[in-house]
Parts: sequence; structure tokens; C-alpha cells
Amino acid sequence: MAEFASPPLPHSAQASPAAAAGTGTGAGTGADVNVGVGVGAARGAGVGVGAWVGSAVGRGAGYLLQATDLHSHYGASHILHGIDFQIARAETVALMGRNGMGKSTLLRTMLGLVRATGGQVHVMGTNMTTAAPFQIARAGIAYVPEGRGIFPNLSVKENLIMAARAGRHGQADWTFERVMDCFPRLRERLAHGGAQLSGGEQQMLTIGRALMTNPELLILDEATEGLAPLVAREIWRIVAQIRQSGIATIIVDKNFAALSALADRIQILVKGRTAFSGAADALREQPELRQRLLGV
Ligand SMILES: Nc1ncnc2c1ncn2[C@@H]1O[C@H](COP(=O)(O)OP(=O)(O)OP(=O)(O)O)[C@@H](O)[C@H]1O
Ligand SMILES: [Mg+2]
Repeated sequence: MAEFASPPLPHSAQASPAAAAGTGTGAGTGADVNVGVGVGAARGAGVGVGAWVGSAVGRGAGYLLQATDLHSHYGASHILHGIDFQIARAETVALMGRNGMGKSTLLRTMLGLVRATGGQVHVMGTNMTTAAPFQIARAGIAYVPEGRGIFPNLSVKENLIMAARAGRHGQADWTFERVMDCFPRLRERLAHGGAQLSGGEQQMLTIGRALMTNPELLILDEATEGLAPLVAREIWRIVAQIRQSGIATIIVDKNFAALSALADRIQILVKGRTAFSGAADALREQPELRQRLLGV
């Protein structure tokens, strides 16, 4: 697509045709992109905050990532039926639902890994519905997929160093040392090959690798799936630390207790549609609804 030939997230002066409606006053696209500005901002302790304020806020790019009436198919199977989803800077959003309800498909569609068959995806105010996954990643979104995917033949250190890059605005808050501080277990295994790690260590490595890209948004699909409770607890501690640092996160997991303690909002999918979207407290107070939608 021609509109993505230029860097995917231009400053307004070089805005793509898709984003042009909102350039200038921002009023043109204001209705759908301004709403989330500042949500959760009070907590943001620093990562990228200055850079973000200096460039995007005020130009109608309130949401880091936004899906509007999103549809997608696998072959003839219609999987997503008009999903609206959005996450603002420094927000933590939990995406929940029973198996096969479309959580991973929603993430994959927003990331350009599955082609949307209807609706739109905006990344920081720019229409990226047809962008390639690498363009979306480059815009500052790091993705930890289900089942991880580290390089088994590389050492822990090599896996991390290979991923290192500055963020969109040149921020390099997450250095190798900082990642090491966050994951003491990885520090002890720096020379180990990826394949020699336990499931929990692999998950730590994948998250550590994602942080090395200095993202604005971290997406964790099945954050603790298949991990022993103690290891899962360690992952939750790390996720809380990441949240504290000001990085926005979308977390998919089955653990309602852990997610409701962490997330600003929970969105629940049922058969490719949003069945609930709201504060964790609202769901905590409605055990019947929770039981019906999540089975917990
Ligand atoms: N590559 C694929 N080809 C065809 N159908 C698929 C494919 N991936 C997923 N599906 C189907 O799409 C639907 C949604 O799957 P998806 O993986 O998005 O669900 P999920 O909510 O992430 O589930 P889980 O909790 O098991 O990870 C399911 O019916 C699934 O069988
Ligand atoms: Mg899934």
C-alpha cells in the first residue's frame, strides 16, 4: 500500500493520506482517537513519557493501538465479528475468554499477521490496517506470542543482545543490565542455550527480549500458560514491574485473580465478539457473569 511506503508512524508533517484527515487541528479524527489521552498517565514512571508527550499527544493519537469494527477470517471461517478494542499509553488491558474465542486472532489481526477482512487498525493514530507486521513492530509494539519462540541455538545473552534496539523516539531505557536486574534467573543462565531453559525461563527470555526493543506497548499472549504456580507468580511480578515502568501492556491469560489485580480494564471475547469490557472491579462483583463468560 502506497500510504505505508513512508515510515509507518510519521510526524504530522509527513502524515500518510490515511491519517491526513486528522492532521492540523486533530479535529477530523478526534472522535475516535482522542478519547484515551491521559488514561493511566499518572502512573507512567518514565519510559518514553517525555518523547510521547513531545510528539504524538495533541495530534489526535491518543491510543497506542485501536481496532474498530474489526473482522477476520481463516479461510471461510468468520472468526472476529466486529471487535472494538483500544489501549492508551501506560494502560494495562487484560484480554480474556475461554479457549477458541478469538483472543489470539484479535492480537494477530491487529499486528498484521492475519489480514483484517473488515474494520480498521490504528497505531498511534495512523491507519495501519494493511501494514506489514514488521512496520507495526517498528512502531513500538513488542509481541510475545503463545508458545514463545526463542532462538534455541543461541545463548540467553545472544537472544537478548540480538533484539536490542532503541525505541521509536530513541529511548533506550531497557538496557541489557536493566533486563538482567528484572530477571535474576536469566542472569544465572546467560551462557545457556535457549533450548536448555525451563518453560518459565523461556517465557522470561521472551519477555526480556521484547523489552530490549524498548517498546511503547508489550503484548503477552498466554503470559503464564503451562507454567508452575511459583514461576507464574514470578512472571506476574515482572509484569507488574513493567507496568510500573510506564509501558502499556495487553495481557492474555486465564488467571482472573492475577489479571484483575493488574489490569486497568478487562475485555472478554465470546465467539469473536466482545461480551464484556470494563473495570476489573465490575467483573469481580459479578460472579455469575464471570462464571458465564470465563468459567471461573
Ligand atoms: N490458523 C488457523 N486456521 C483456522 N482456524 C483457526 C486458526 N487459528 C485459530 N483458528 C480458530 O479460530 C478460532 C479462534 O482461535 P484463537 O486462537 O484466536 O482463540 P483463543 O481465544 O486465542 O484461544 P486459546 O485460549 O485456546 O488460545 C478458534 O475456533 C480456532 O479453532
Ligand atoms: Mg490464544
